[in-house]
Amino acid sequence: KRVGVLISGRGSNMVSLAEAAQAPGYPAEIALVISNIPDVAGLDRARDFGIATATIDHRPFGKDREAFERAVDEALRVNQIDLLVLAGFMRILTPWFVARWEGRMINIHPSLLPLFKGTHTHRQALEAGVAEHGCSVHFVVPELDAGPVILQAKVPVLPDDDEETLSQRVLVEEHKLYPAALAEVASGRAKLEDGVVIRG
Ligand code: GRF
Repeated sequence: KRVGVLISGRGSNMVSLAEAAQAPGYPAEIALVISNIPDVAGLDRARDFGIATATIDHRPFGKDREAFERAVDEALRVNQIDLLVLAGFMRILTPWFVARWEGRMINIHPSLLPLFKGTHTHRQALEAGVAEHGCSVHFVVPELDAGPVILQAKVPVLPDDDEETLSQRVLVEEHKLYPAALAEVASGRAKLEDGVVIRG
């Protein structure tokens, strides 16, 4: 499967996928990395792997989210992308785009969904006083961070944690979880059917 990755920043999850995809027998190839923000570190790191990159700045499209997404969709089509991976991509997608990629688009979210949707998830976890935190890979549905979960990984929350230490502990798990989840989807072992994840 040819995978496109959408990023907005440093791209460390994208790197973990690119590294995993180099292993013989991995069922996906990272074929294209698109950033909506120009000149981010993730684009340089993708190029280090020899991956094709594109920048599609959302700002010239103004409030017309679909016009931006049509440009993204066109780039994905031209590059014959089968599966779409969101990795630190900081734009909310319209129902039109989500429907187009339904069952073929996954995201990683730094919390144990359904807990702590949205941003500042580590701060949310610390304020809630939970003993465990983690990350989730899910199929993308129109509602934000609400898609059916494919895989999760847990970490303990330690007494002295702050947002930085906790996010670092979660990120280590993200870098293992995302390649594992992408492999399940790309190989067809995990599928979205009628809004739930089916394992075959
Ligand atoms: C990760 O924590 C991811 O879970 C969240 O945004 C961060 C992106 O980091 N959605 P990176 O760009 O992959 O390094």
